[in-house]
Amino acid sequence: MSTAARLVIVGCGHMGLAIVRGLLGGPAGRDLVVVETSSERRQALSEIDGLSISSELEVAEGDFVVLAIPPQVFDDFAGAERHKFTPETPVLSVMAGLTAGSIARALGTSQVVRSIPNTPSEVFEGMSVYFADPAVSEGTISQADALLRSIGRVLRVGTEELVDDATAICGGGPAFVSYIVDAFCQFAVSRGFTEAAGREMAVQVFGGTATLIAESGKPPMQLCHEVMTPNGTTERGIASFDAAELKDSVRAALTASAQRSRELASSMSAGARLGGIDD
Ligand SMILES: NC(=O)c1ccc[n+]([C@@H]2O[C@H](COP(=O)([O-])OP(=O)(O)OC[C@H]3O[C@@H](n4cnc5c(N)ncnc54)[C@H](OP(=O)(O)O)[C@@H]3O)[C@@H](O)[C@H]2O)c1
Repeated sequence: MSTAARLVIVGCGHMGLAIVRGLLGGPAGRDLVVVETSSERRQALSEIDGLSISSELEVAEGDFVVLAIPPQVFDDFAGAERHKFTPETPVLSVMAGLTAGSIARALGTSQVVRSIPNTPSEVFEGMSVYFADPAVSEGTISQADALLRSIGRVLRVGTEELVDDATAICGGGPAFVSYIVDAFCQFAVSRGFTEAAGREMAVQVFGGTATLIAESGKPPMQLCHEVMTPNGTTERGIASFDAAELKDSVRAALTASAQRSRELASSMSAGARLGGIDD
């Protein structure tokens, strides 16, 4: 991305802030502008150095716009702000569920990259998946790719449907993992460990295992079996997971989450038609 280009981040809640923090912690050189409607959030953001904060969107030629507003407000946003976009304005959407095509039609730009990042972006450990259709220029794609790469790992997919599945795996993944980590913490406390000790153990076990899986290259179930001595303690625990059909439960949760992403896409298309901003 050219150093002259401004990055305009619209919506600076959990995800927008994770991206901003990730970008601010990386190499300097880009002007960052945050557009945020919540005065409380603008006040909190004013304590962060290196940011311009505004309640009003302005898009200048060459700006790269990141949309991190809730998908539910996008129809209204597009209705009010469409005139500020040109057919060439590059846009990176991180909004769950909304298709690149509906965003492009609603804003009147052909240059929309649809992505799904996640909150570990804040600590440069993000996992983002993105899709760009053939109408998007290589310049826009490389700007979007570079932005996402500055906050973690990036995977480009050739089918937009996969972004909905990645929304469950990557976008929601940190919530699903935190939910399980919390169960480990709760068990530790129930057995007499302090909260801090429970947290330290659980976090190190999850982080250490993730690193082991990544660095060993072994399949996760091989690593699982390497810990399971026949008739030992871990085997008993895994038997309990199997009896509770935990893997089916995880699959059902991911399927439901991906389905919700697809539902958001269809409700947006309906809204866009009603609002007269669809083709
Ligand atoms: N959270 C995640 O882990 C995650 C992961 C991947 C993708 N996403 C996507 O990221 C987007 C934001 O999610 P979030 O969790 O960050 O939501 P959030 O915490 O609610 O933040 C959204 C922010 O956008 C502001 N906003 C609403 N309308 C606006 C407008 N027209 N102009 C400027 N700012 C506006 C909101 O202000 P008000 O509170 O005043 O409305 C709020 O501060 C969503 O599309 C979501 O699908 C989130």
